[in-house]
Order: sequence, then C-alpha cells, then structure tokens
Amino acid sequence: MKYYLTTPIYYVNAAPHLGTAYTTIAADTIRAFKRMQGYHAVLTTGSDEHGQNVERAARAAGLSPYDYATLIQDEFRRQWERLGLHIDRFERTSDPKHHRAVVDLFERCRRNGYIYKGAYTGQYCFRCELYVGEAEPGALCPDCRRPTETVTEENYFFRLSAFQDRLLELYRTQPDFIRPEFRRNEVIAFVSQGLNDLSITRTNIQWGIPAPVEGRHVFYVWFDALIAYVSAVEGEDLWPADLHLIGKDILRFHAVYWPAFLMGAGLPLPRQIFAHGWILVEQDKMSKSRGNIVRPEPIRQVLGGDGLRYFLLREIVFGQDGSFSYDALVTRYNSDLANGLGNLASRTLTMIRQYAGGLIPDGRTAAGALPEIAAQTIAAAVSAFENFEFSRGLEAVWGMLSAADKYLVEQAPWNLARSSDPAARSRLAETLYTAAEILRIAAVLLAPALPASAQRLWSQLGMTPPLDSLRFQELSWGQLAPGQAIGEVAPLFPRVDPEQAVRRMRELEVQETARQKALLEGKTAPPPPATPPAGPKITIQDFAKVDMRVGQVLAAERVKGADKLLRLEVDIGEPRPRTVVAGIAESYRPEDLIGRKVVIVANLEPRKLRGIASDGMIVAATPEGGLPVLVGPLEDVPVGARLT
Ligand code: MSP
Repeated sequence: MKYYLTTPIYYVNAAPHLGTAYTTIAADTIRAFKRMQGYHAVLTTGSDEHGQNVERAARAAGLSPYDYATLIQDEFRRQWERLGLHIDRFERTSDPKHHRAVVDLFERCRRNGYIYKGAYTGQYCFRCELYVGEAEPGALCPDCRRPTETVTEENYFFRLSAFQDRLLELYRTQPDFIRPEFRRNEVIAFVSQGLNDLSITRTNIQWGIPAPVEGRHVFYVWFDALIAYVSAVEGEDLWPADLHLIGKDILRFHAVYWPAFLMGAGLPLPRQIFAHGWILVEQDKMSKSRGNIVRPEPIRQVLGGDGLRYFLLREIVFGQDGSFSYDALVTRYNSDLANGLGNLASRTLTMIRQYAGGLIPDGRTAAGALPEIAAQTIAAAVSAFENFEFSRGLEAVWGMLSAADKYLVEQAPWNLARSSDPAARSRLAETLYTAAEILRIAAVLLAPALPASAQRLWSQLGMTPPLDSLRFQELSWGQLAPGQAIGEVAPLFPRVDPEQAVRRMRELEVQETARQKALLEGKTAPPPPATPPAGPKITIQDFAKVDMRVGQVLAAERVKGADKLLRLEVDIGEPRPRTVVAGIAESYRPEDLIGRKVVIVANLEPRKLRGIASDGMIVAATPEGGLPVLVGPLEDVPVGARLT
C-alpha cells in the first residue's frame, strides 16, 4: 500500500530557515510513521524556481536564473541532509520533465474548455507574485502589506468560476479533504462567495515555462508550481497524493486552485491537505523583512537534530501557530530529553550492566501496572500520530516514561541488588526487565519523531533488527528477549548549560546568517582547500617561548570604525585585566562573549590597533574562507592556567 506525501516546493529566493524546516521535519516524521505502519511512503519536496522574484535575485547576484536556482536548491538539499530527513523525490520546476507535465495539464484543461484568452487589468504584488482580485490601485498586498502595482495584460485564463459547485461538493462529501477543521470552514466560506477566473499566463516575466500559445507567454508561477507534485512521480504509480502538507499561508492555492486545475484536466485529486500554523518568533511571523529569521543549523549543532525535532513537534500543537524561543528550546531539551528519557535510559542500562552482567534479566512475570500503561500508551501514541497530533502523541510517551521513573523509585533496585534473598533477586530481575521493556517500547514509538536517538537507544538495548522495520501493529509488551546482551551505554542527550547553549546558538546564528547572505548574493564560499601543509618544525624550547593562558572575558565592545574588531578586557589571573583587540566582530556579538573562557597569547609584544594598545592575542581557528572561531578549554579550567 502506498502513501504519497509532499511538502511545498520552496522558493529559491530565500535560504532554508526554521519555517521551511518545520514543514519538512513534520513530513519526514509522517513518512517514517507511515512506513512503520507498513505503507510504502514516499516524500516529495523540491524547489519553486520560476518567477519575477528569482529573476530579480539572480540578476542582483550576477547569475542566470537557472544557475542561481541551482545554487539555492543545493542549499536546501544540504540542509535536509544534515537534518537527516528522508527525501525520496526532489523536484525542481526547471526540470524538463516538469515542463512537459505543466504543458500537458494546460492542454488537457484547454481541450476540456476551461482555458480562454482575456485582458486582465488589476493589482499585482510583485513580491508575492500575486494578483489581488477586486483591489483599488495602490491597495496593499494582503500577504506582505506592501503597495501593489496596476498591470494590464492580455493573458490566458483558467475558468475557475466554473468549479464553485464542484469544489463545495468536494468539501462536503470528503470532510477530511482540508484539515484542520477550522481551515476547512475558512475555505468553504471563501468559495461560497463565488470564484473569479484566474489568469494563468504572464507576459511581463521571462523566467518561466513557455505556454504553448502565440506570443511570449509563460505560466503564472502558481499554475506551474503545484504540478510539481505530479511531475515528481511521473511514471510511478503514486499519484494521487495522499497528503499535501503545507503552511496556512498557501492553503487557498492548494485547497481551491489545485483541485480545480485537476478537475479541469480530468485528473485524480489529492486525498488530503493539512495546513499547519506559523512558527512565531517574538509573536511575529519569521520573515526577512522583520529580520527575525531563525535557522535550524545552529540548533542542530548545539542540541542535535532530534533536539530541534522534539521541540517543534512537542511544543507546537500541529495546525496552530506556535512560538519559538531559544530559552524554551533549551528548557524542553534539558527537562524532557536529558533529564527525562536520557536519564531513565542511562540509569536503567547502567543498572543492567552492574547488577545483571549486561544481560536483560528474565523478569517477565507480573510487573505491576506498567504493562497495562504501555499498552494504553501504544494505542494513544499511534492514534495521535495517525491524526498528526504529534504533541499529544509525545505527551503520551512521556506519561509512560514518568510512570517508569516512579516505578523505579518505588522498587529501589539499588537496594534489592544488595540483598541475596531470592525474592529480592527476582524482584530486581522483574524491575530491570520492566524498565528496559518500557525503553524498548518508547524507542519504537519515538522512531518517527526522534529517529537518530531512538536508533541509539535501540542499539544500547542490544536490539538488532532495523528499528524502522518494526510495525506498530505488532508492538506489544513482553517482546524484549531475556538474556539479550545490551550494547554500549552512552548518554542519549547530554545535559547542556542553558546559558552557554543559548549563547552558542546565537553565535552560530550570526555566522549562519552571514554565510546564507553571501550565498544569496551569489558570493559562494570557495570550495574548502586542501589543508595547508604544516610549517617548518620547531623545538620544544621554541614552543615554550609562547606563553598561552586561559583567560575570561570581563568586558567586550565594538571598536568604532572597524567592522571586524572587538576590544576585550580579559582576566588572565594577573592583578589587572589585559586589553586585547581581536578581529572577531563578524563572528561574535560583544554581549555573547562576557564570561567566556578564551586562550590568550600573553607574552606577545603589545601593539596598537586603531589607537588601542592591544596587550596579547586571542587564539582562534579560522577555516579557509570562513570566520574565526574562538578556541577554549573543553572542561572548566581556572583563569590563568598555562597551555603546555
Ligand atoms: N513556493 C511556494 C509553495 C509552492 S507549493 C506548490 C512557497 N514557498 S515558500 O518557500 O515560501 O515556503 C512556504 C512554506 O514554508 C509554507 O507553506 C510553510 O510550509 C513553510 N513556512 C515558511 N515560513 C514559515 C513559518 N514562519 N512557520 C511555519 N512554516 C513556515 O510558498
């Protein structure tokens, strides 16, 4: 049985951020969940490459639109890869196979009488590539709130008005076609007011798919883009899609235009459209113009891909808007992952190693309420995920984990282990088996949401069948085999210091922003060169001449008139802090450096930089073509310690 799902295909005039990652992570979770229900689940994403915005951005970067699109779609692919997302098909709208599919859909609609030529005068938002129906000249774009421009064109139209009844009939007979329910109601209200025909070609744009008509018409970007869902799986038995996962901002295109285009062409309709909400940063939608974009990469580097996934899926009710903040992210990570699941796993496995020689003890006898709780949790979590209620599903699993925690405290296996009484020994075996079995069931239930950590937990339990080959239908209590040797035990989610973790993510965010900005401007970083050969050899005496000390930053500020320089006051254990001028202003914000441990070359001849006497040098690693990264001790070391 197949399950075909899609994310939107993303515009290539912006780089991936938390918003686009959110949809793609949710889609990856659903794909994995469906696979573990036994479906042949296939996920399509891609890049939406045509239109005025890309044309403009490419020109500004000095590249052809195609080369520009190639550059940015590469960035998306790399990001999904780093996040470990399983993308089965990636469709570029510049792909010739997609062009053929678009022309084919147009021809089918034309043959069926739904295409005509007409004149269009109206308001157009160039930024959103949106004609704003029935708006006065100068009206604001409903999406981006910028003034629209008046345009008149002779265009080809799609007879959308002919589909009002059929669309309403579709929403009525297939109540779960649009989800969540309140979005369905919005669409019904919109369509009930009547539909205007839609202009689907443009003559004021060159970068698009040429329409098979006289003149220089290219297809309107939304007529072109939606068809990517079909062209991505051309020649396979996957269409119609079972699910289009989208953000609420593009619901109308998917729930009104798209089914109408398909009806017009006589093609099967997708089965379901789910519109999730927005991720808000400080109550605002993330956007370039508001300058509040958060990128996934810094979070991945500090808390891991699963740390990010857990937050997005657990904290936000899928379908509603939700807020993102670094503080909330780290709090959730520490409380639920490090102290919750991670702690239960390491305690249980360490006890199995210590008290049972690293073998799962035979303790399948009655084990209190937990087998029943586990059975209920399996049912609740699977049904929640089936319904895309990720937050509720995860909550159910965490309910089971805390029941197991409580059980361990009650049984106190650490006391039982001290007794040689056979009754205590068998209760110990039962307790450890029960806790391990809870972990095994949690690993299976969490595999779609936290794939990397669930797999690690799975291996630590000594399980060998591939985790994703398991089926939820077959999951039940007691399948853990006694006598099985557990694997190597390592922390699943190392606890992080909240302040340091947030600071590090903010620092990385500054660097990632600069890197993406350069990319969007067409200034790609040069390919990483081979590491330069090490310099000439020196003696240990030579090295001993360099006096390097651990220091702590007490104060930091920008140096006026110098983009790259920061002035730092660094305590290296001397009576007075050193003043050091460092070329790290592009990598770090001054406020993020206060309190940070760094390494200083303490016996360098002082030198004046921009009128400031710099008494020492900060040690940083600078990747070729990249920005400097501060070097510091991995463990806590007192100020003044010498590097030898
Ligand atoms: N190219 C069109 C889609 C064509 S589909 C045939 C497009 N692209 S986009 O790059 O702007 O991506 C929009 C999608 O990204 C949204 O629908 C949503 O899925 C996701 N998000 C972008 N910003 C978001 C948030 N701030 N929050 C949540 N999701 C967001 O529109």
